[in-house]
Amino acid sequence: MDDWTTSHDRVLAQRHAEGWMFLIEAARDVRTTGAVAPSGKALARALTGPVREQAPRPLDILEAGSGTGAVTRALLTQLTPGSRLDVVEPNPRFAERLRHLTHRHPHLAGDPAQVRVHQSYLEELDTDRRYDVIVSGLPLTNFTPEQAETIMNRYLELLHPGGTLTYFAYLGTRRARRLVSSRAESRRHHAVEEAVAHYRRRYATGCWTVWANLPPAKVWRLQRPTGPTPAAPPAQAADFTA
Ligand SMILES: C[S@@+](CC[C@H](N)C(=O)[O-])C[C@H]1O[C@@H](n2cnc3c(N)ncnc32)[C@H](O)[C@@H]1O
Repeated sequence: MDDWTTSHDRVLAQRHAEGWMFLIEAARDVRTTGAVAPSGKALARALTGPVREQAPRPLDILEAGSGTGAVTRALLTQLTPGSRLDVVEPNPRFAERLRHLTHRHPHLAGDPAQVRVHQSYLEELDTDRRYDVIVSGLPLTNFTPEQAETIMNRYLELLHPGGTLTYFAYLGTRRARRLVSSRAESRRHHAVEEAVAHYRRRYATGCWTVWANLPPAKVWRLQRPTGPTPAAPPAQAADFTA
């Protein structure tokens, strides 16, 4: 067997193992895990667009809710010299996997200190760092409206003025929940969507629909204003399709 075949097989086996791990963690706690499978490559690419667009400028990057590292892997390959990546994940089994992934990643051979893995909830992250780019994998629609607001406010606080946040939401979850959930659960879902929409009306600069993901997802990009917080929301964000 040649080298390419063995390394290709290794990657496939690794993805397979990660798929199972994700499914097991979702069975343990579906609300916090937020999905039954890791994000696909197209979604990871859409979420990490602000990093590519600013290359080769050194950036401070935060990824929140990294799971098995589907998006982390995309970020690692895009890290430019002098950039730093903080990864935040509360699930201890995912955090362990992320440490393994980041310590062994060939792209970091020159400087493994570029990446730190924090086993923590984003709300409890203890850091003085401020970020140019935040990539969120958090399942916001699984939270209460108050939790979602706390998280969005924390993101804004952690961003440098002018910094960018990307996050995603799966398409069709409201309709699916309406079919299978109680009225109270549907009301919670609607309230949390409204809470997050409030931030989009103020700070969104664009959104993309990623069809090549299971399930398809919408990626939003928000920007913290460079000056004081604007009094009025900006115009409706443009909708592109990826
Ligand atoms: C939908 S998964 C996304 C995983 C990965 N980013 C991906 O795209 O495949 C959500 C992740 O967020 C993590 N999570 C949930 N609540 C969190 C919180 N408050 N702070 C940080 N991470 C959280 C979960 O443990 C899970 O790994």
